[in-house]
Amino acid sequence: MLKFMLIILSFDQRVKTNGTFDRLFEITWGDDHANILEDGELLTLSLDQRSGSGLRSKNEYLFGKIDMQLKLVKGNSAGTVTAYYLSSEGDFHDEIDFEFLGNTSGEPYTLSTNVYSQGKGDREQLFFLWFDPTADFHTYTVIWNPQRILFYVDDIPIREFANNEAIGVLFLNTQPMRLHSSIWNAEEWATRGGLVKTDWSRAQFVASYKNFSADACIWSTLSGSSCPLNSTTRPWYREKLNTAATRKLKWAQKYHQVYNYCTDTLRFPNGLAPECKFA
Ligand SMILES: *[C@@H]1O[C@H](CO)[C@@H](O)[C@H](O)[C@H]1NC(C)=O
Ligand SMILES: *[C@@H]1O[C@H](CO)[C@@H](O)[C@H](O)[C@H]1NC(C)=O
Ligand SMILES: *[C@@H]1O[C@H](CO)[C@@H](O)[C@H](O)[C@H]1NC(C)=O
Repeated sequence: MLKFMLIILSFDQRVKTNGTFDRLFEITWGDDHANILEDGELLTLSLDQRSGSGLRSKNEYLFGKIDMQLKLVKGNSAGTVTAYYLSSEGDFHDEIDFEFLGNTSGEPYTLSTNVYSQGKGDREQLFFLWFDPTADFHTYTVIWNPQRILFYVDDIPIREFANNEAIGVLFLNTQPMRLHSSIWNAEEWATRGGLVKTDWSRAQFVASYKNFSADACIWSTLSGSSCPLNSTTRPWYREKLNTAATRKLKWAQKYHQVYNYCTDTLRFPNGLAPECKFA
């Protein structure tokens, strides 16, 4: 009995650290497929035929700069999706998405980005990255302030979603969001439109995460304050693309973007979204 207790205690010590992922996240799905390692500074999410896995931040954020380094599933990742996104709750939810669609070995991983404002999405922009996202960790950043949302890969801005409330486009500025991430099987649609299925003989499929940082306003219902930081003094609060950054954005969009909802007149025969006239 004592031996049994000791095993339980030492196991508990091993999994409970004071690291970033223990402190700031909670596992929401596939408990035994999510691992927090290296004193809480490294997270792996895995997928096999039995289950995927996912987690979410304990905090809710309303504006901020959120960084995470991700390394995606090596080898044949066809059929798998690794999602990394901010989302609020409810039917008219807001969402800022990075979604990584797997591929067969040697074929490009697709980074799909999207923005939902009060339940309205259909704003995909897709990219093939200029590096192999499975070989090393790279930083994926969202800057979200009252004027705009910026998506970055390392230090390259790949997308801007500006506040266009002036022309009637709903912006994401009223609903706090949590950061979520998960890996799951989407073989029905993810790879070449569902033609290529998940090869379960290659499981486990593993995505790794480290170096999370949220320089952000934390929403707190209790204190009634959405922003304990004096966020207006933080650089991200006024972040906008200068000339050099705009040049990088144009480079990413010209050479690495493979789909843009703002040019898809076949899909939107009744007219493109109003914000597209500025894209
Ligand atoms: C996978 O690779 C094929 C062939 O290069 C490409 O057409 C496709 O867009 C890639 N990505 C996905 C998610 O299917
Ligand atoms: C971790 O991320 C921060 C930015 O959030 C960056 O300045 C730092 O260089 C990163 N550390 C490593 C080891 O990549
Ligand atoms: C926040 O920072 C701004 C700019 O420095 C300052 O004017 C304002 O008084 C500060 N607000 C609080 C609550 O500290």
